[in-house]
Amino acid sequence: MTLNEIIEARDRAFQEAEAATDAAALEAVRVRYLGRKGQLPQIMACLRELPPEQRGEAGRLANEFKQGLVERLDNRKPQDTTAAAASGFDYTLPGTGCKPGTVHPVSRVIADVIRIFGRLGFTVADGPDIETRYHNFEALNTPAHHPSLDAKDTFWLDGGGLLRTQTSPVQIRVMERQSPPVRIITPGRCYRRDTTDATHSANFHQVEGLYVDRRVSLADLKGTLACFMREMMGPSVAVRFRPHFFPFTEPSVECDFSCHLCGGSGCRVCKHSGWIEIAGAGMVDPRVFRKVGYDPEVFSGYAFGMGVERIAMIQYGIEDIRMLYENDVRFLEQFR
Ligand code: PHE
Repeated sequence: MTLNEIIEARDRAFQEAEAATDAAALEAVRVRYLGRKGQLPQIMACLRELPPEQRGEAGRLANEFKQGLVERLDNRKPQDTTAAAASGFDYTLPGTGCKPGTVHPVSRVIADVIRIFGRLGFTVADGPDIETRYHNFEALNTPAHHPSLDAKDTFWLDGGGLLRTQTSPVQIRVMERQSPPVRIITPGRCYRRDTTDATHSANFHQVEGLYVDRRVSLADLKGTLACFMREMMGPSVAVRFRPHFFPFTEPSVECDFSCHLCGGSGCRVCKHSGWIEIAGAGMVDPRVFRKVGYDPEVFSGYAFGMGVERIAMIQYGIEDIRMLYENDVRFLEQFR
């Protein structure tokens, strides 16, 4: 084995590597020269037999041979021709991860309410956010001199329309187009000129309920709300009614449920009263029935309305209503 023979073998190997046209040919070149019984191991083995003054040069040549051939074979490896490779996209990098979103607590409460009342036979009805004075007030037996019509409480629009202050106008719209029996709930946005603070927002959600049929009583209302509250807050909560006033119900009540946290003995959440207010309600006023063409001598009904944000705050222990609107991801992520 002479230096020249090593050079010749090297040049031949390099040429063969350049000439190989497919993966099989490349592999054959690799085996022929770099394989265990290939030419390079043989050359390495012969180095020892060379005269000492040639060994250094021969060793350098042999190494150059090996490295050069490995490089050439690597370069000729079949290229990735996919679109991903062409775009420079490195599909071996770890992914960026995908955090699924969460259902907003307001949407969650609405979904729960729909589910629970759905089992009691209520269907969902909808109405416009922009209402007429008639549907939001007059048909609900609220006279023009009532303070809630005041420009400082209600967002009036040019042309006499308004942003609904309650979901109760949907009651009117449904009764206008449908005869009894009626059994609906209507979740939706409401608007009031309230100054925002921890418990008030100019834009919030209510769920309205309306049940009209023959011989519907206040006891039915209480039983239905009690059933709802037990599903929502736990099997041991009770409800109570306190007398109240709404223009469109007679009698009217405010509905409380026994505090789900302390069981009624008094705690911070129920302000040590043992009870938490949850809904306004009452028996539909005969004047409202007459407006929509129902005969109050034949039909009776109850209605209720509750604040969705309020329920969410009670259920999840949220102390400031503004957290529900700020869309701070750290807050929202908790509702997985
Ligand atoms: N609409 C009333 C309110 O916003 C709530 C209510 C609804 C009361 C239905 C009685 C019956 O305060």
